[in-house]
Amino acid sequence: MHKVVTLSEFILDRQSDFPYATGELTRLLADIGIAAKIVNQQVNKAGLGDILGAHGSENVQGEQQQKLDVFADEVFMQAFKAGGQVCGIASEEQDEFVAFDSDFCRDGKYVVLFDPLDGSSNIDVNVSIGTIFSIFRRKSAPGKPAEVRDFLQKGTEQVAAGYVLYGSSTMLVYTTGKGVNGFTLEPTIGEFCLSHPDMRIPEMGNIYSVNEGNWEVMSEGVRQYVRVCRERELRGRYIGSLVADFHRNLIKGGIYIYPGITSAPNGKLRLLYECAPLAMIAEQAGGKASDGRRRVLDIAPDELHQRLPYFVGSAAMVDEAMALVREHDKVEI
Ligand code: AHG
Ligand code: MN
Ligand code: MN
Repeated sequence: MHKVVTLSEFILDRQSDFPYATGELTRLLADIGIAAKIVNQQVNKAGLGDILGAHGSENVQGEQQQKLDVFADEVFMQAFKAGGQVCGIASEEQDEFVAFDSDFCRDGKYVVLFDPLDGSSNIDVNVSIGTIFSIFRRKSAPGKPAEVRDFLQKGTEQVAAGYVLYGSSTMLVYTTGKGVNGFTLEPTIGEFCLSHPDMRIPEMGNIYSVNEGNWEVMSEGVRQYVRVCRERELRGRYIGSLVADFHRNLIKGGIYIYPGITSAPNGKLRLLYECAPLAMIAEQAGGKASDGRRRVLDIAPDELHQRLPYFVGSAAMVDEAMALVREHDKVEI
């Protein structure tokens, strides 16, 4: 039997990848692993306790919050607060960013942006859900509270990004800009173990993932691309949990699209909590991510909860979709 490599061992081994690393990022990634295990426990027994269903509140985007959204948000935020490497966070579930103001945290070099529970509408029906995270080095001086400019950074500035998938098994996939590695939670020992080293997305795939219920309200360019997929008899697969759809396409090859629609010209997904972190993973695995025109990682955000049309996955498929969008959608819808 070959030796099992745990997430903690792997992160420590890779610490030397960062020329100036003093172990903070290592510790931060390990804390994410711990928070993921805590959320995973609740997700796994969600049908049994009192954790299913609506929380009775709405988030800043007017979306109904689920109890697990709120729980996951709290668990990850507390993990970052307790670690000392992070001076502030921004979460899809919170209106404003949070600057951690203890002396301990003010010295933290990093900020984290996250979608604590992605695919919330799938929680109650036992379908895969996820957590997405994005880590930046702060712009403001250490020793002071975090500022908004620490969070409004381009995707190219991310020092690490990743996701946790609470699926038929639980996985943590992350990158620090040196490839993508995937770890599967071994429930009997409670450790994430390296199961998918150096993940690469096929250049071309045979899966397309888009909510075709939006057909009437999509732009002509996107419809043209979906027609191409249909003509080629590609597999249509849409779970409605971005993390799960992305993860499958990463392994098998494919494209995920959430386009602008008439009522929401920038689509639904959020640049900072969803699009940019998964764009970094996609690129690190050899894939691409675009808003139809621009490389996602080059987009400078204007506000925390900014939304973006999103095309991500196999490079050849994203290129082809972009070409059709450019050709047919002269004006943004
Ligand atoms: P969240 O649960 O974090 O709000 O994200 C849901 C997102 C994404 O995960 C999914 O792919 C998409 O919304 C589904 O939206 P539609 O139901 O409009 O297709
Ligand atoms: Mn989401
Ligand atoms: Mn969410």
